[in-house]
Amino acid sequence: MIPAADLHTAAERFGTPLYVYDAAELDAALARVRAAFGAARVFYAMKANPNLGLLRRLAQSGVGAECVSPGEIARAEKVGLTGEKVIVNGPAKSAAEYAAGARLGATFIVDRAEEVGRLPPASRALVRVNPALEVSTHDHLATGAAGSKFGVTLAQAPAVLDALRAAGHTALGLHVHIGSAVRDAHDFTAAFGRLTGLRARTGPLAVLDAGGGWGLDADLPGIAREAHAAAAAFGAELWVEPGRYLVARSGTLLTRVVGTKRTGRDFVLVDAGMTELLRPMLYGAAHPVTPLWTAEPGGVWDLAGPACESGDLLAQGVALPTPAPGDLLAVGEAGAYGAGMSSNYLTRPRPAEALYEAGGWRLVRRRETPEDVWRAEEDNAE
Ligand SMILES: Cc1ncc(COP(=O)(O)O)c(C=O)c1O
Repeated sequence: MIPAADLHTAAERFGTPLYVYDAAELDAALARVRAAFGAARVFYAMKANPNLGLLRRLAQSGVGAECVSPGEIARAEKVGLTGEKVIVNGPAKSAAEYAAGARLGATFIVDRAEEVGRLPPASRALVRVNPALEVSTHDHLATGAAGSKFGVTLAQAPAVLDALRAAGHTALGLHVHIGSAVRDAHDFTAAFGRLTGLRARTGPLAVLDAGGGWGLDADLPGIAREAHAAAAAFGAELWVEPGRYLVARSGTLLTRVVGTKRTGRDFVLVDAGMTELLRPMLYGAAHPVTPLWTAEPGGVWDLAGPACESGDLLAQGVALPTPAPGDLLAVGEAGAYGAGMSSNYLTRPRPAEALYEAGGWRLVRRRETPEDVWRAEEDNAE
C-alpha cells in the first residue's frame, strides 16, 4: 500500500487526474497467481492495462502476453516478448495481426472455423470454445454465454482441431474464457467441465488455456485446482491469461475536489470522470473511494466528473469528511481497464501514470497535451 504522504507527493509532482501503480502490489498479485497455479504458464492479458512500465515488469518476471490488436502485439515485441511468450487472440483478426503474430512466432487462438484457412502457414494454434454458460458477472463482461460472439461451439471444437491438423498447423489444444470479473468460482468449474466432456472426441492435447476472468476476491486456489484437473484430463499443460487480477489492485486514480453542488442530490465535483475511468458508467462498477484529507464528517456524496454527460459519475453514496476544493481522493482498484479505456472525448488529454517502486516515483506515461490529441488531424500526410 502506498503511504498517503507519497500519494500527495505524486499528485503535487505530476498533477491530477493521475493514475498511480504500486509495484509491490503488482508483484504480490503475480506471486498469488503463481502460488495458486504452480507450474501453469502465465500470459498477461494486456488489454487490462497496456502500460509499458507494468508490461515490462511482468515480462521481466517471466510472464508472457495475450494480445488482441496489432498495437498490443507491437507492445509485446517492444518489451522483448516473442515466440511462445506471445498469444494472438481476437474474434475478428486483421491481416496485420496474422502477419505480426507470424513474424513473432506467436500462438494464435482460433475463434471461428473459417480462421483455419486464414492462419499463416504452419501456425501453432488453440481453438477457443464457447461453453454456452451464463456466468456471474455484468452482461457486457460475459464472454462464454450461448449468444456471445466468442469461440466455436462445443460441438464444433473437435472438427476445428482436425481442420487445423489437416491444414498443416500445430493444433495445440483448447482455450476457454468465460468473462471478466467473474464472482462465483463454480462458473469456472462448470466451464472446465464442459471442455473435459470433449475429451473422448479430441483425444489428448498439448495445451489447455483456461483464460482469465477471476474476480478480485476469487478463490484462486479453488479455480486453479479445477483448471489443473481439466488440463490433466487432456494430458495437457495448463496456460492461464489473467488481466484484471494482476493489475487492478496495484492501480489508483487520484483526483481532486473541484467543488460541491446540491441539486436535490449532493455532488462532489472532481477533476476525473468517464474519460479517465469509464468502468462505473460502462459496467456500473463500484470502485472504493478513500478521502486523503481530514475534516469533520461531511455527509454522503455522489462523485461527478467534468464531462457534460449525466452518467459521468465516478462513485455514488460515498461518505466523506467535509470536502473543499483541492482535497485529494484515491479511487481504488483502478489498475485494470482504467487507463487503458481512457479516452480523448471532449479533447481531454489522457492523464499521466506513475509507478511507485522502492519508495519512489517514476513517471511511466506523461500527461498528454491538447496538441497530442489533435496531432493526427494536423498531420494529414497520406
Ligand atoms: C480471451 C481473454 N483472456 C483473458 C482476458 C482477461 O480477463 P480478466 O482481465 O478479467 O482476467 C480477457 C478479457 O476479457 C479475454 O478476453
